[in-house]
Amino acid sequence: MTALREAGILGTGSYAPERILSNLDLEKLVETNDEWIVSRTGMRERRLVAPDQATSDIACEAASRAIADSGVKALEIDLIIVATVTPDHQVPSTACILQARLGLVNASAFDINVACTGFVAGLNIARSLIAAGAYNCILVIGAETMSSIVNYKDRGSCILFGDAAGAAIVVPFAGQGKILDIHTGADGTGGMSMVVPAGGSRKPCTLEAVANDEHKLIMKGNEVYKFAVAKFRDLVVEQLARTGYKASDIDLLIPHQVNLRIIESALSRIEIDPARIYINLDRFGNTSAGSVPLALDEARKAGRFQSGSLVSLVAFGAGLTWASTLIRW
Ligand code: UT7
Repeated sequence: MTALREAGILGTGSYAPERILSNLDLEKLVETNDEWIVSRTGMRERRLVAPDQATSDIACEAASRAIADSGVKALEIDLIIVATVTPDHQVPSTACILQARLGLVNASAFDINVACTGFVAGLNIARSLIAAGAYNCILVIGAETMSSIVNYKDRGSCILFGDAAGAAIVVPFAGQGKILDIHTGADGTGGMSMVVPAGGSRKPCTLEAVANDEHKLIMKGNEVYKFAVAKFRDLVVEQLARTGYKASDIDLLIPHQVNLRIIESALSRIEIDPARIYINLDRFGNTSAGSVPLALDEARKAGRFQSGSLVSLVAFGAGLTWASTLIRW
């Protein structure tokens, strides 16, 4: 039997649109205030796409930067995985739109719908396909235009989300970014805690559905909060148990940028120095599948980890879904 190949991350890139939505801007839209939002979430501002920007546009920026960073040639890329719940269209996939836009003519392409977990789940798929020898150069993107599905009349959810994209190039390991461990899971029984009711086959997007805002996200915030705290803690503990590392071995933990209270509460019982947890949700909010790759790229380029560092990625979200990855950079 042929030995499985190890996979590594060769380059990263990210993009957040320029337009800023601050807590003060939100005060003008719904009955809320800066103090409430900061104390309950840690968020101060988020980025929103321009009116003419869609998910493929911000994904294209992030992907171009990851390709340039990695040094691979466009024609070497043989698979594109786009993680998003806010595709440009229901059909075709955003991955196919990007394949044409970036001229990646040798690449197969598909989207995955794993919500906030999407980028880490995509990395895990890429790692498995590299291991199996099926592909040699995979572009994994997490990109989200949450502003297209957020209901800006619902103060319980609209304060949380922003738009952003991040990307990585995954190849057979050649000395950088070795993916040491992957884990992905789901619990569909909790699926209705975050739902966009209309626009699918169950309830097409009728005038009535739009009038009732059923084409927008509905979220049971408290249910998601409890799930997120418990799952986040479990993901870290189980990753350490599987790999034999201690929490103190992790040089940087990059969690899904969900809510500062969730992150602090989940990690309160784990022996990890808070300085080793990467947070940028104060500036970008929760960008769903864009969150982890944006933070990964930002942290890397800010020198928050170097060659040889142990970096843990942990994500969870709608579905309900979750995933973790451990990387020796
Ligand atoms: O990737 C996963 C995406 N989903 C999430 O991240 C959701 C996770 N959940 C959360 O982050 C939190 O549950 C929220 C931030 C959404 C809400 O925070 P909370 O501390 O759980 O507040 P709550 O829902 O228990 O509401 C407390 C109070 C309520 O008022 P009453 O009933 O006590 O009078 C709400 O109506 O706060 C009120 N409230 C607000 N007040 C000011 C809810 N949203 C707001 C708001 N501004 N934006």
